[in-house]
Amino acid sequence: MLSVLPVRPRLSSGEFIAGSQVYLRAFRAEDLTERYLGWLNDPEATRYMESGIFPSTMRDLESFYQRIAVSRSDVLMAVIDKGSGEHIGNMKLGPIQWVHRSAIFGIMIGEKRFRGRGVGREATRLMVEYGFDRLNLNRIDLGVFAEHEAGVRCYQKLGFKVEGRLRQDLFQDGEYKDRLWMGLLRSEYERRQMGKPK
Ligand SMILES: CC(C)(COP(=O)(O)OP(=O)(O)OC[C@H]1O[C@@H](n2cnc3c(N)ncnc32)[C@H](O)[C@@H]1OP(=O)(O)O)[C@@H](O)C(=O)NCCC(=O)NCCS
Repeated sequence: MLSVLPVRPRLSSGEFIAGSQVYLRAFRAEDLTERYLGWLNDPEATRYMESGIFPSTMRDLESFYQRIAVSRSDVLMAVIDKGSGEHIGNMKLGPIQWVHRSAIFGIMIGEKRFRGRGVGREATRLMVEYGFDRLNLNRIDLGVFAEHEAGVRCYQKLGFKVEGRLRQDLFQDGEYKDRLWMGLLRSEYERRQMGKPK
């Protein structure tokens, strides 16, 4: 007699874009966890982010998510560690200016043990590829504390150029600090892609 194996539903990871260490997928309501809230209230994680200035509550996260979930000018993705399936951070392209074909990029690798291992760089590369190849953007911009070495290096390695220095634009630890404005053009991105070994 033939034995019928029970059909087990496959749990969908929702993987949208994959790299070697992480994949990106749509940010979901169930990602609004205490873990995510913990990142936003962790002074080390938010040291170079404006999000850490005011304490965050679950309600803040929910209203942020409700706004973003229906927005067609913001793309929010969860960064997932491929090995463990753990949600380790988030990244955003937005607001997207569809007429000018530009967008502002933001990233947070919230789980401390995943920082400084090349994850931020890979996740940024995946989002940049998505921005140019799928969304057909012409430029991606970002602002970063000038002294944020990991951030600045991560972006420079991917081809972002410093386009301006906004002197004393940010206040932190009792002093004003400079913000770098960085940008990557589609033409520069394409040149880099052409130079890559196949
Ligand atoms: C900024 C951030 C995205 C960088 O990602 P990451 O995974 O930690 O960094 P990576 O391991 O990919 O390294 C990127 C570059 O920064 C360097 N770097 C990493 N950590 C560093 C540190 N603490 N100090 C100096 N340089 C550092 C790396 O050596 C690498 O440069 P290299 O390729 O020349 O060696 C991540 O640390 C993060 O999300 N931090 C918290 C939130 C935040 O600051 N967001 C960005 C606001 S602009």
